[in-house]
Amino acid sequence: MEIRLAESYGFCFGVKRAIKIAEDLKDATTIGPLIHNNEEITRLKNDFNVATTKDFQEFEKNPTKKAVIRTHGIEKQDLEKLKNMDVEIVNATCPYVTNPQNIVQNMSKDGYHIIIFGDEKHPEVKGVKSYSESEVIVVANVDELKNHHIPRKVAIVAQTTKKINEFNKVVAYIVERARETRVFNTICNATFENQDSARELSQDADVMIVIGGKNSSNTKELYNISKINCVDCYHIENETELQKEWFKNKKLCGITAGASTPDWIINKIISKIKEICV
Ligand code: F3S
Repeated sequence: MEIRLAESYGFCFGVKRAIKIAEDLKDATTIGPLIHNNEEITRLKNDFNVATTKDFQEFEKNPTKKAVIRTHGIEKQDLEKLKNMDVEIVNATCPYVTNPQNIVQNMSKDGYHIIIFGDEKHPEVKGVKSYSESEVIVVANVDELKNHHIPRKVAIVAQTTKKINEFNKVVAYIVERARETRVFNTICNATFENQDSARELSQDADVMIVIGGKNSSNTKELYNISKINCVDCYHIENETELQKEWFKNKKLCGITAGASTPDWIINKIISKIKEICV
C-alpha cells in the first residue's frame, strides 16, 4: 500500500509561531490551550515546563509569573484584568485572529453593527466578539440570520476557519437588507490550502487518515471534506487509534493533518501504519 501525504497539511504559520514563543519563554502557563492538540500540549509541559489552564478564570485562581495568550486569543476584559496582575504577558495570538479583533473594535466605534459568521462557543469568536463596543450578532449559518433584524449599517467578519462559500451566502443575505455593509474576509488562507489538498488527495485515496485534535475545528473540517470523496476516512489523534482492518485491500492511504498537528505526531502515525501493514 502506498502512503501519500497531502501537498499542504499540518502546522500553519500561527501555530508554529505560538509554539516557538512558548518554547522560548519556558516555565510559563498558557491561558486556554495554546493550540487544539493534546499531544503537543503534553510535550510542551514535559520539555519546556509550559503548563496549560482551561481559561483565564482558572489562571486567575492560580496565577504564575509568566502567561502566554493562546493562538485563538482571549476576551478583551480578561486581557485587561491580566494586565493588572503581577504577570509577564506574552501574546501568542495569531495575527490573523488579531486582525478581526481590531476590525470589530474599530468598526463598532465607527457606529457599525457587528455580525460575526462563526461558532458562538468557539474561543476565537468569543475573543473577537469581546472587542466590539456595541451589540454583536453571531451566526453559524445564513438560516440563523433569519431570526435577526438586520441593522442599517453592518460590518461583517468571519471566524478564520470558516468556508468561503458559506461566508458568501451570509454576506449576500446582509447586503440585500442593510443600507451599508462593510465586508472583511477574515478567513485564513492556511485553512484553505490544507482543505484544497485534502480534497484533491481524497479523490485518489481509498483510505484517508485525518490527524488532529478531536476538538480542533479545522481538523474536523478536513475530515468532512475528505469523507465526501473517500468513505473510508478516519479522524485520529495518535497512533494508538489505528486499526489494522482499515488498511485491508487498500492501495493508497492518504494522510492529512489539521493546522495544530505537529510533524512528530504525523511521522509516528506513518511509521505505525507501515508497521501494521506488513
Ligand atoms: Fe492563524 Fe490561520 Fe493558523 S488563523 S492559527 S494561521 S489556521
